[in-house]
Amino acid sequence: MHTDAVGIDGMAIWTGKLKLDLADTYAPAQDTDPAKYTKGLGLYASSLPDVHEDIVTMGANAAHRLLRRKGVSPDEIGRIDVATESAFDRSKPASTYVAGCLEQVFEGDFRHANKGERKFACISGTQSLDDAFNWIRAGRSRGRKALVITTDTAFYERNDPGEATQGAGAIAMLVDRNPDVVAFGTHQGHGSADETDFLKPNQQYPSVDGTRSMQVYLARIQEALEDLDAAGADLHPDAHALFLFHTPFPGMVGKAAVLGYNHGVRGTEVGSGLVDRIGPQPRPTAFDDEDAYLDALKTYTGKLMETPHYEEWYERTIAPTLGLSRHVGNWYTGSVHLARASGLQAAAEAGRNLADERMLVASYGSGAQAEIHAETVQPGWDEEISQLTIDEQLAARYDLSFEEYEAIHDAHNHNRETPLSPQTTPEGEFVFDGWGGMGERTYAYVE
Ligand code: COA
Repeated sequence: MHTDAVGIDGMAIWTGKLKLDLADTYAPAQDTDPAKYTKGLGLYASSLPDVHEDIVTMGANAAHRLLRRKGVSPDEIGRIDVATESAFDRSKPASTYVAGCLEQVFEGDFRHANKGERKFACISGTQSLDDAFNWIRAGRSRGRKALVITTDTAFYERNDPGEATQGAGAIAMLVDRNPDVVAFGTHQGHGSADETDFLKPNQQYPSVDGTRSMQVYLARIQEALEDLDAAGADLHPDAHALFLFHTPFPGMVGKAAVLGYNHGVRGTEVGSGLVDRIGPQPRPTAFDDEDAYLDALKTYTGKLMETPHYEEWYERTIAPTLGLSRHVGNWYTGSVHLARASGLQAAAEAGRNLADERMLVASYGSGAQAEIHAETVQPGWDEEISQLTIDEQLAARYDLSFEEYEAIHDAHNHNRETPLSPQTTPEGEFVFDGWGGMGERTYAYVE
């Protein structure tokens, strides 16, 4: 029994019901080598929302599935936090819409649940889990559970370099004492700075400096590693069964993983072996200009990634966390939580016993902040993970032609009135079905 443990007791995933194949459909239309997406970014497809889907329907559908499966009723939920960077209202939080949807299908209501919406780019899902953990640990929950939902429609402007990394989906997570999936550790490391790498100043599509956003991601992760180290956490790569990162696209994680590994082996036997094998890491002070330093760092990193210990560590600890992302794209707030689901699902399929093993979770949000914490996998995790129906959902997506993709992108553009028929037939799910008298979006449950 882990009586003090607080963490994720169950999760459910809802993918947008449409698929854009990057190699077969997007690359030819862009006149681009498909390998840029499949090998360079590490992505095969994006999940996109059908016309009746949005952040509320996807979040409510994931939550509905989770609460039904866990047999949880509305009066057992003490808070509902929705994390999103795709909000369509500057005042009314998406969690009120989600609760309204759920109240259409459950007995009882969420009248006494504290509801909110969290914003800090892709890191706000992790911040919502933090809030839930603190609420329970502070003794304010009265035995009730927290429902945390990440939900995003990650559209970019047409022909923006980010277009290839789009995605749409939601993850609902139940946070409770004695959790069945993972328990959160108390140590945290943060790296945070005022940056303008990616933002949406009152606009639907992001303004992005893609190259800068990758540099900022790595800088904040490095700071968070140092902060977590200072907090006394064990960061040795061999101390963790999985290391999850925010995954805007798998190629980004390939770059971040090296930082995590390099930091973790510093001052250890593995670190000394590394110096013997490939020499010490270049230091900026040893170079006259920054370009020469960056070139030397790239060469060093390339050599490190080819060492047998790194390759074995990457295959065991990082690669399993990327499987789902490759087929759905960037789910913004959900991306690091999808990495958790992916890593645990792959571990279960490989017959690994992860009970009581530790994982490191590195979250990141542009603007910019990174946070890293440890989690301990709980006995019973594999039973929970076996209930995810994500593979079936991915297989059932409607595969868009490029012309259909263009029409869907237009249909979701807030500045256009582009009526379009859905590509899929809703069944047993919430749908967006129109507008109310005060400009609110309205939702119905389709049996
Ligand atoms: N075969 C194999 N790899 C290829 C390739 C090919 N034919 N063509 C390109 N690549 C590789 C590139 O070398 C590069 O890899 P590297 O970074 O390891 O060198 C990768 O594919 C991407 O190519 P690039 O030309 O840099 O892509 P881009 O300029 O179109 O945009 C992003 C890439 C990430 C900047 C863009 O997708 C973006 O803006 N995304 C949104 C912001 C984001 O996700 N930021 C991440 C931090 S949150």
